[in-house]
Amino acid sequence: MSSEGINQAALDPGLTVRMLRTLGLVATLSGLLVVLSYRVTLPIIEENKRLAIERALFKVIPGAATRQDFVVTDQGIQKASEELEGITLYAGYDQDGRLKGVALEAAAAGYQDVIRILYGYDPYCQCIRGIEVLKMTETPGIGDKIAKDPVFLENFVALEARVDVSGQGLEHEIVPVKRGTKTQPWQIDSISGATISSNAVARMLNDSAQQMAPIILKDIAILEAGA
Ligand SMILES: Cc1cc2nc3c(=O)[nH]c(=O)nc-3n(C[C@H](O)[C@H](O)[C@H](O)COP(=O)(O)O)c2cc1C
Repeated sequence: MSSEGINQAALDPGLTVRMLRTLGLVATLSGLLVVLSYRVTLPIIEENKRLAIERALFKVIPGAATRQDFVVTDQGIQKASEELEGITLYAGYDQDGRLKGVALEAAAAGYQDVIRILYGYDPYCQCIRGIEVLKMTETPGIGDKIAKDPVFLENFVALEARVDVSGQGLEHEIVPVKRGTKTQPWQIDSISGATISSNAVARMLNDSAQQMAPIILKDIAILEAGA
């Protein structure tokens, strides 16, 4: 406001009130617009997320034809419902209703931002059977190879994630190694020149499987009966 305007406002208290009223109105309208756009876009975002998971699910659980969603609660694994909150498990079944695996979301910080994936866990071989990247902003031609480099993806045909005797975690931590030096089934052969993105995938899989594989094996009967 010009010094003339400020002087005028000081002389005219009515003008100050009108200005404050206008400012208040603008602030209220801005707030309403933010809330409205959040409410309008939230279901669209949720639906897109659901579709992305649906598409990825059948890729990371080989042989799956149908799915059933479950939630990990304090009482163990339960069939998903509106009221239940917790980590979601997507169980995949073949045509005959046999459990083929469980898909789970995992995430970790990559080179640019958080990388989010869906991976398939096969409780019978106790191994990871596939990964699909749901969201990433890794550098094209470098970090984004985690989604398409065939040698890197070969790691996830049967990546060992075996539960230890205590039933509390994995027998072997899932770890990244330099390209061409993989000697163990729980190691991930990294992408040369994209160590940071490769490490992020290893870290998210290890963190998630350490926690989730024991839960899946403990309640496998619930998952098997769920088709
Ligand atoms: C512009 C630019 C973008 C990069 N983007 C990525 C990336 O998306 N993911 C990644 O792991 N490394 C990326 N890097 C490379 C990392 O800085 C680092 O050098 C690399 O991860 C190390 O891999 P190496 O141990 O196989 O040499 C990028 C480097 C530059 C200069």
